Amino acid sequence: MIESMNGLKRTHYCGDLSIRNAGDQVVLMGWVQRRRDHGGLIFIDLRDRSGLVQVVVSPDLHKDAFLKAEDVRNEYVLAVQGKVRERPEGTENPNLDTGQVEVLAGELRVLNRAKTPPFYIEDEVDVDENLRLRYRYLDLRRPEMQEAMILRHKAAKSVRNFLDEHGFLEIETPVLTKSTPEGARDFLVPSRISPGKFYALPQSPQLFKQILMVAGMDRYYQIVRCFRDEDLRADRQPEFTQIDLEMSFVDVDDILELMEDMVVRLFRETTGREVLRPFYRLSYREAMDRFGTDRPDTRFGMELKDISDLAAGCGFKVFSSAVAAGGRVKGINAKGCGVFSRKEIDELTAYAAVYKAKGLAYFIVTEDGVKSVISKFFSEPELAAVLDRMEAEPGDLLLFVADNPVVVADALGMLRLYLGERLGLIPENTYNFVWVVDFPLLEYNKEEGRYNVMHHPFTAPRESDLELLENDPGKVQAKAYDLILNGVEIGGGSIRIHRREIQEKMFSAIGIGLEEAADKFGFMLEAFEYGTPPHGGIAFGFDRLIMLLAGKKTIRDVIAFPKTQSATDLMSRAPDFVEKKQLKELHIKSTYLKSDLKSNT
Ligand code: AMO
Ligand code: AMP
Repeated sequence: MIESMNGLKRTHYCGDLSIRNAGDQVVLMGWVQRRRDHGGLIFIDLRDRSGLVQVVVSPDLHKDAFLKAEDVRNEYVLAVQGKVRERPEGTENPNLDTGQVEVLAGELRVLNRAKTPPFYIEDEVDVDENLRLRYRYLDLRRPEMQEAMILRHKAAKSVRNFLDEHGFLEIETPVLTKSTPEGARDFLVPSRISPGKFYALPQSPQLFKQILMVAGMDRYYQIVRCFRDEDLRADRQPEFTQIDLEMSFVDVDDILELMEDMVVRLFRETTGREVLRPFYRLSYREAMDRFGTDRPDTRFGMELKDISDLAAGCGFKVFSSAVAAGGRVKGINAKGCGVFSRKEIDELTAYAAVYKAKGLAYFIVTEDGVKSVISKFFSEPELAAVLDRMEAEPGDLLLFVADNPVVVADALGMLRLYLGERLGLIPENTYNFVWVVDFPLLEYNKEEGRYNVMHHPFTAPRESDLELLENDPGKVQAKAYDLILNGVEIGGGSIRIHRREIQEKMFSAIGIGLEEAADKFGFMLEAFEYGTPPHGGIAFGFDRLIMLLAGKKTIRDVIAFPKTQSATDLMSRAPDFVEKKQLKELHIKSTYLKSDLKSNT
């Protein structure tokens, strides 16, 4: 029988009950985690979002409740009225927060029945992620998912409080916007009313937040959804959330300092952890040199060392010719890995090859010198200098890549991370923040024979580099910064260009002509002519931040309803075909229809 609550009101959450409640009359509402029959008594673990408590149903106390309890199955929804009591000695459960007490059921109502769920609602179950996503509402009942959602809520609240106290206004920006070339591919929305025209979903509120500065709002923020049609990874979703903000009349240090305050408070208020300030700052150049990436994980060493000068004149052609061609030879020292087998080293070589390394040269350092197929190409002093540079000791394995600087950095940077993980060098529960600063404004794109922006085209060059923008654009440094946490880019921003003539120079440096600029960004350029204050800002990847706070490996685990790697929602089955009529209204002809799918299968 299904009953109604009929006036019954919840008085407590299950997980909140403790010995202090002993003797209290309570009303609980929740789901059945488990039912056990024990010689005349029925035990029900009742769960709500706060946790579990054991309910005892005895036929002597309440015959009717007992009869109902006999029919109860997992995930049934119950209301239980009863009395909290201390558990009899020897029956306490130290693994349960409420393990010292239990609720002796007086009345029990079955508010709803449930089908047998396709997986157990508990942590650390070995369930295929697709099944979890298909039944996300059941997955979200699991304690660790509930904790993640609560953490996310607390983090958003902490950020809102902080920004509110610092004079920021939360202002919404449109979701139906204009397609602008900003980096990733846009999601487009066809317009019914303007045939042939499309809105784009915003990749970020970048243009609008800058225009809000022109509008005199002074300090803006928003916890906002952004949309990017890009290839997905563990820390990338097609729609994700940013803590987005913008400030007028500030320079780089003002923003970085305020953001450190915000992050420190966020950590304190969500996890009770004290993060040390100021955050470490690393120039882009140094990050690339030492870690092979602009998002360095500084929780462990094994930094890249450049031996190009020593390799330039050595007899190993691969090395010397790489240097002669303008490339580099760099290495990492895998401490104590001199014992690696040939097979293990081959695995490392294959790993480096994924990042385009053409090979992986290695030295095994022993008490009696270096073991390596290429050591014969080095003189004794050359070898000694390499060992010295690599800070090598007997037992170490030195791994080298010779190639153009990009491949060297990529392959060794990734190999370093791989080995760091594999050798257990990355300490858990450590949060290493790094600001990466002094980015180049532009990077040269060989294939297209022109410069691309490193961040976005509104990023300001250093004042002292303005001249270079026309003559030697590759040398210009940007007033841009990224915040890296444990090797994950959690935020990025910049001081913006606020004068039209510089913005136009920037467009011209990246091959956007005046006409195209007027077409794509005309509204912004026009706005910039009406008294634009100097301004700058930043956006944090909120999902990534929560992922790291929650100790998860993917942002899917901290998003209530994420998409799969192939950008689908397994629960609602989006994206999906639509009716022909809908397409017609939108003036769209699809070359791929549901009927095609049928005839294909
Ligand atoms: P950016 O493109 O660097 O900057 O984005 C800011 C932060 O957003 C996160 N992020 C993502 N998270 C999940 N899935 C994605 N697909 C994804 N893409 C980005 C990252 C990143 O650091 N408008 C500028 C900010 C500014 O200049 O103020 C911007 O969007 O953590
Ligand atoms: P080979 O002379 O081709 O037998 O290579 C000798 C060693 O050099 C092997 O361990 C290769 O993996 C390594 N090697 C080849 N090309 C490169 C390269 N570009 N960078 C680093 N090591 C390389």
